[in-house]
Amino acid sequence: MSDDRARLFVALELPAEIRGALYGWAREHAAGVGRLRLVEPESLHVTLCFLGSRPATEVDEIAARCRDATSGHPPATLTVGDALWLPPRRPRVLTVALADQGDDRLAAVQAALSGALAGGGFYEPETRPFLAHVTVARVQRDARIRSPELPAPDAMRFTAATVTLFRSRLGRGPARYEALASVTLS
Ligand code: 2AM
Repeated sequence: MSDDRARLFVALELPAEIRGALYGWAREHAAGVGRLRLVEPESLHVTLCFLGSRPATEVDEIAARCRDATSGHPPATLTVGDALWLPPRRPRVLTVALADQGDDRLAAVQAALSGALAGGGFYEPETRPFLAHVTVARVQRDARIRSPELPAPDAMRFTAATVTLFRSRLGRGPARYEALASVTLS
């Protein structure tokens, strides 16, 4: 893709020890499933809004809207939940669900971002409810896999406070994610 367009998404970053633990869990179980490509630990995140391809000239305003939308929101306290194949009938990704500590803080951040970005014409809100998850592996292109029930990772609890606008660069091999702007929930 030429540099005048950028493939963008906004995500919650995860603490390094959580990324490491999720990667270790995925590596342990992927071999038994086959035809899965693990997401590298440095690329693990919680997608909040996927904007897709946008003119690169919009990046500054999108970053400003992300900052404004999240200001005043406290960090999210989350717990690692069950393995979840998505979509369930013909999975393309293996994910791990995250549970909010009952107060839906992350859902509130996601809703604020969604509204602010849609208000600027940068984003088309999802019609389905927000489902906090981390994609830990992707099914290889054209592969059809059985999707066994997997044991849940350890139910680690953690706080996450960094929301980042990423640019995704596609090419040969896995997508590379470049952080363009970050805000700290506080
Ligand atoms: P995921 O976290 O559910 O896998 C960067 O590509 C991120 O944007 C991915 O982690 C993915 O979310 C999300 N994404 C990619 N393509 C998408 C699409 N067409 N619709 C919604 N989200 C997408």
